Amino acid sequence: MGLPLRGRRGCLLALLALALSSVLFFGHFYGPEEPRRSRLLQQETLQLAQAELPRDVRSHDLTGDSIMKRRCSKGSQINDSSKGESLCHSREKSSLCPWSLKSKVKSDPTLGRQFDFDGPVLMWSHHFTAEAWDRLKERRVPYGWHGLPYAVIASTVQLLNDSANSRLFNKTTSPDGCIRCAVVGNGGILNGSHQGKEIDAHDFVFRLNGAVTKGFEEDVGTKTSFYGFTVNTMKNSLIAYAEYGFTQIPKSKDIQYIFIPSDVRDYLMLKSAILGIPVPEGYDKGDKPQKYFGLDASAGKFKLLHPEFMYYLTERFLKSEIINTQYGHLYMPSTGAIMLLTALHTCDQVSAYGFITDNYKTFSDHYYEHQKKPLVFYANHDMLLEAELWKSLHQVGIMKLYQR
Ligand SMILES: *[C@@H]1O[C@H](CO)[C@@H](O)[C@H](O)[C@H]1NC(C)=O
Ligand SMILES: *[C@@H]1O[C@H](CO)[C@@H](O)[C@H](O)[C@H]1NC(C)=O
Ligand SMILES: *[C@@H]1O[C@H](CO)[C@@H](O)[C@H](O)[C@H]1NC(C)=O
Ligand SMILES: *[C@@H]1O[C@H](CO)[C@@H](O)[C@H](O)[C@H]1NC(C)=O
Repeated sequence: MGLPLRGRRGCLLALLALALSSVLFFGHFYGPEEPRRSRLLQQETLQLAQAELPRDVRSHDLTGDSIMKRRCSKGSQINDSSKGESLCHSREKSSLCPWSLKSKVKSDPTLGRQFDFDGPVLMWSHHFTAEAWDRLKERRVPYGWHGLPYAVIASTVQLLNDSANSRLFNKTTSPDGCIRCAVVGNGGILNGSHQGKEIDAHDFVFRLNGAVTKGFEEDVGTKTSFYGFTVNTMKNSLIAYAEYGFTQIPKSKDIQYIFIPSDVRDYLMLKSAILGIPVPEGYDKGDKPQKYFGLDASAGKFKLLHPEFMYYLTERFLKSEIINTQYGHLYMPSTGAIMLLTALHTCDQVSAYGFITDNYKTFSDHYYEHQKKPLVFYANHDMLLEAELWKSLHQVGIMKLYQR
């Protein structure tokens, strides 16, 4: 922890005050809502947390004992002979890359205990078992399916039955067998950075939320392989950053979409996108997925992060003190953090651009703002904890963090 406890507590109070004022403001701005579902605008990612306020305390408890049980216990490691893949295992095929971050992690006892490369990153049909339902229905989204209708979850996850839904990468493109990834956050540090060429030189480029590239190619590049979001952050980004040219999410034949399962909305939108139909019910009822993902979006383009992976990465990497406050149920890692940790568990080499650094106050909130806007913290994320994590992973050589 970089800050003394009292400092962090003080920060937290300020965050909560801001969070509450934004609930009032944006609750109005975003129009009619169910009364209990207040919404909180997160300034960096526009990540709105689940905000069903009075809820079963146990389902918010991230400090419980269940996480450390094997996410993919030996007993559930059943071979699927028809597909030649394990039911449990959804990681990419073991890497031939001699410089993989995995070998570095495994050779370090502390990192070796923190990272677990064996559990699933993506949820797909083969993971949808009675046992998975029973386990995940106990935990709130994004860590589980508490309170979500079985029919919605089952019908969505069963559509993810192509092997393309079970892995991020189809092939290794580099001669040395290494998968090199750039993860591009939207931080103001990228303004004037000239990192575009370097970013595009990676095999795969992850972007998220308000990822404007047009007009900023020199600084942020043009290539997008993966776009990560929750339906809520995607739609809010399209509203909030339209003035900077973010009028549609990245689209092309090669782009794949990574859904973060933070609300029933994400399951409903994902299902509708695969079926090519308007969203049948709920908050986004009538919304046409083609509007976002294009007309020719095939099922294999869509990936869904595994709730268990969300739980694991929060527990092991971003277990914020916010969790232990009465606002704990609002907390989850930011969209950027989720994408970066996803890359760290799937790629051989990872470079992070546009992520929070020690000197974040020097830069505007986003790289595309016309005038400098300060980065403001809200209670649903712990940006200072994320900053410490990126800095330490950079220092131990697990990833490269772009700093200036
Ligand atoms: C899974 O398949 C491999 C190779 O076909 C075999 O060696 C292994 O024993 C199988 N494991 C289980 C749990 O059936
Ligand atoms: C996936 O499920 C759909 C609908 O149930 C079915 O038509 C399709 O053949 C399945 N695909 C695979 C690869 O199993
Ligand atoms: C994956 O690779 C196979 C064979 O190389 C190809 O037919 C398929 O279209 C690729 N899928 C994606 C999503 O790129
Ligand atoms: C972006 O960088 C330019 C040139 O370095 C600078 O003039 C401008 O103020 C910066 N924009 C923001 C929003 O900080």
